[in-house]
Formats: sequence, structure tokens, C-alpha cells
Amino acid sequence: MILETQNLRKYFGEVHAVDNVNFKVKEEEIVAIIGPNGAGKTTLVNVITGYLKPDGGKIIFMGKDITNASIYERIRAGIVRSFQLVNIFEGLSAFDNIRVAINSRERKEGKIFSLIDRDTTVTKEALQILDLFGLPKDTLARDLPHGDRKLLDVATAFALKPKLLLLDEPTSGVSTREKNKIMDVIIPAARKEKVSLVVIEHDMDIVFNYSDRIVVMHQGKILFEGKPDEVREHTEVKRVLLVG
Ligand SMILES: Nc1ncnc2c1ncn2[C@@H]1O[C@H](COP(=O)(O)OP(=O)(O)O)[C@@H](O)[C@H]1O
Ligand SMILES: [Mg+2]
Repeated sequence: MILETQNLRKYFGEVHAVDNVNFKVKEEEIVAIIGPNGAGKTTLVNVITGYLKPDGGKIIFMGKDITNASIYERIRAGIVRSFQLVNIFEGLSAFDNIRVAINSRERKEGKIFSLIDRDTTVTKEALQILDLFGLPKDTLARDLPHGDRKLLDVATAFALKPKLLLLDEPTSGVSTREKNKIMDVIIPAARKEKVSLVVIEHDMDIVFNYSDRIVVMHQGKILFEGKPDEVREHTEVKRVLLVG
């Protein structure tokens, strides 16, 4: 297990957004979290990544208790997230966006290179990531098609060398065809780099096609979890997803 939450809790007043959740992710596993609006999906990701402090429970990452670690300590340990809205530098090229991300990672690791060595290493790594995501080098982020902007956002998260990457609706706001194109790049990239992936996603076709395991949340709790086929056949899950 790379990640395990134990009775994790986050309440907002009367709202039990995350209610005693035991959520697990295995090494190199691709897990989708689904559930109606307000089910607690984003809150769960916020607590795991350190953006919110839990009210109770524990978070164990690679065998270590990280419940009280800061966001940056978690990133350094290998927990990286992307947001529902794209978070890139619009006036920089795809290449430079990735280089900025690599540089920020290296600073946090306290690496000291001669400037020339450093430049070559960073350039080489940035080109590899661009290639992995099929992105053009010199196009400014703001001039990229919508789907490529989403991919660039995920690519900058990859540049932080995550072991566990959490994506909150990476394909929101694009057409079904574009969604497939985006997932057809993200999933092989994660498999190749052996990154465990947690994806919050609304589109059921995407969820069923791309995940190893699906976790269904409802009113702050895990209602059901299983392989895509098991979730597809589960009557209670169908009801919750349809009714909300
Ligand atoms: N910062 C907050 N303050 C108060 N209530 C919140 C906050 N964030 C989320 N909530 C509430 O917690 C519940 C779960 O929200 P959220 O995690 O965003 O669900 P989801 O991502 O599944 O749509 C909702 O009822 C939402 O209104
Ligand atoms: Mg959400």
C-alpha cells in the first residue's frame, strides 16, 4: 500500500464532508473516485495533500504517518496534486513551464549544480517530459488548445517527480473526444513512470475505461469500492449516482 487513511475525518460544522474514511491506494494503481456533487471527493484530496487539516484519523504514506506534515513536506515525500482549474504560467512556453517546475523541485531538494550542468540536466529532463505528454516545446501556454493546456498542467505536476499524483477532474470542461485524448496520454505516462494515480472524474465512460479500481463516495463515506465491472453492476451505486 502506498497510501492509507485510517478513520479520516473532516467536518465543516454540521457537514460531515469526510466521515471516517479508510481509503487505500496500492503502488502503481490507478484509482478513480466518483460520487455525486458534495460527496466529499475534493475534501478527501485536500486532506490527503495537506491543504486541509483533518479533525481526526491518520494518513499513512509509504509507511510513514504524515497526518501533520506540511504541503511541501508531502510534495517532497512524493504526494503531488493538480487542481480542477489549470494552474500554469500563461506567458511561458510549455518547455519553460516544465523547467520552472523542475527548478522548484530541485531547490526544495537543496541540490547544488554548476550552472551549466544544471541547465543541461534540467533541459534534458524537461524535453523528456514534453515528449511523454506529446506537447510542443515553444508554444506559449496561452496559445495551446484547451486539451493541451490540461496536459501541460499535469505535466508540470509530473515534473515534481510524484509517487502519488492526485488529479481533481483533469478533463473537466472538454468534449468526450478530448477527454479520451487526455486520458490516453496521462494513463500511459503514469504507468511508464510507475506513478500511483488518484483521479476524481465525473464522466462514467472515462472512469470505467481507465481505472483499475473505483471508489464511490456518498455523504462523506465510501459507499462501495471495486473493479469497474463490479461498480457498474451495483444497484445502490447506480441509484446514488443517478439521484445524487
Ligand atoms: N471550505 C468549506 N467550508 C464549508 N463547507 C465545505 C467546504 N468545502 C466543502 N464543503 C462542504 O463539504 C461537502 C463536500 O464537498 P466537496 O468535498 O467539495 O465534495 P465533492 O468534491 O465530492 O463535490 C459539501 O457539502 C460542501 O458544501
Ligand atoms: Mg469536487
